[in-house]
Amino acid sequence: MTNIAILASGRGSNAKALIEKAKEFNNLNIALIVTDNKDAGVIEHAKNHQIDFAIIEKLSLSKAEHEQKILETLLSHNIQWIFLAGYMKLLSPDFIKVFYDAEFKQSRIINIHPAYLPEFTGLKAYERAFAADQDYSGITVHFVDAGMDTGPIIVQEKFEKRKDDTLEKFKKRGLNLEHKLYPKVLENLNHYLAKKDRRILYAL
Ligand code: GRF
Repeated sequence: MTNIAILASGRGSNAKALIEKAKEFNNLNIALIVTDNKDAGVIEHAKNHQIDFAIIEKLSLSKAEHEQKILETLLSHNIQWIFLAGYMKLLSPDFIKVFYDAEFKQSRIINIHPAYLPEFTGLKAYERAFAADQDYSGITVHFVDAGMDTGPIIVQEKFEKRKDDTLEKFKKRGLNLEHKLYPKVLENLNHYLAKKDRRILYAL
């Protein structure tokens, strides 16, 4: 059994999509949800699906102390893979190192970013993509390295920006794609873990 944790800071719609998908697999278990925000919507999803959750706020802790607390919780749940789903803090190299997979030559930490990377890294990606003079944006799922949305790309797909779009409609279209792509990556991870062939993880 491979234990997965989701780290999320907000609404948790991607977490929900992952939780629902994981029910299809016998060898993958979403064992823990960690949030740094006591008001995060993701807590409700954890409760609804009887998944352990931990609220670990940064408050006056240093970044290192905060990450240490998260790490202890992850390790106590025997977590092997992490999916970031709207987690709003950049993970430090020391944290990422703990989840480095020598065989896989990547961290076992995956993130979803709402833009066609390397375009629009960082915060407010939907807003900036919408304001840009282009008729598409995209969604990217990638491995996490120490940079801001810079790790190796697993999959990315474009979606269109229409002439009559509002930011709201545009975001909704993107989010629908997020909810399709992220569970698909989970499915591929499940296959990869069974077969240990790295190409599987990328083949969508
Ligand atoms: C998503 O747009 C995700 O791509 C970004 O943060 C947002 C989180 O949304 N990293 P949700 O909490 O999964 O609903």
